[in-house]
Amino acid sequence: MSKELDIKIRKIIDEAIKLLNENNKDSNNYEKDHNDSNSNIGDHLIHNNEFDKDINKEIKEEIARVTSSVIPEQTGSFEKSTSPLLRYAESSTLHGSKETEPLLGLIREVFDYLPWKYNYEEREDKKNLGSYMGWAELIGPEAPYKSDDFCLGFTLISPYTLYPEHRHPAIELYKVLSGTAEWTLEGVTSKRVPGEVILHPSNKIHKMQTYDQTLLALYTWSGNDVVTLSEYV
Ligand SMILES: [Fe+2]
Repeated sequence: MSKELDIKIRKIIDEAIKLLNENNKDSNNYEKDHNDSNSNIGDHLIHNNEFDKDINKEIKEEIARVTSSVIPEQTGSFEKSTSPLLRYAESSTLHGSKETEPLLGLIREVFDYLPWKYNYEEREDKKNLGSYMGWAELIGPEAPYKSDDFCLGFTLISPYTLYPEHRHPAIELYKVLSGTAEWTLEGVTSKRVPGEVILHPSNKIHKMQTYDQTLLALYTWSGNDVVTLSEYV
């Protein structure tokens, strides 16, 4: 299985880069491909298009930076995960869009072999959060594709879960693959649907809140410091 698995995961990396690149070809991508079926998020949050336009240029530049990075050699191996997040294998790939479905299909095939983890310190107010959210890093300082220059992986947040306010020195780019949720950056909350791209500049405080859908999003980290871990604030 190992060689076959390695090939499948490499294909995921290539498809993820391709998906980000395609985003740059069409700046209105996140408006054309909305799929908001069955989400019960209230109408109190309007889709914040003005905000999107403001950061559109920065997003394009960040995508260009990330997608031109050299993908490192695979030096580590992928094993069957024992993460509690495996119970979201199905629900985290259910609510995609036409655009994100090809990548979701590839992820579905090897979901249980992705390096799911959660390494924040335990919070007194949210015990066992690592059973409800986490991430699988494919490229990064500790990932099977070792790089100290940029990271690429997937963040998963189970339904009705708050990923509390946090920050990190790295510049973070997200592309929602499956699930509609509320995303907050520096106090501004927007409803984000599959296909949308979100930029979290270095050290800016952000959080996510899911409702009835499991959220699965592609993320990248870049900038001067992708080694320092994220911390709750
Ligand atoms: Fe972040």
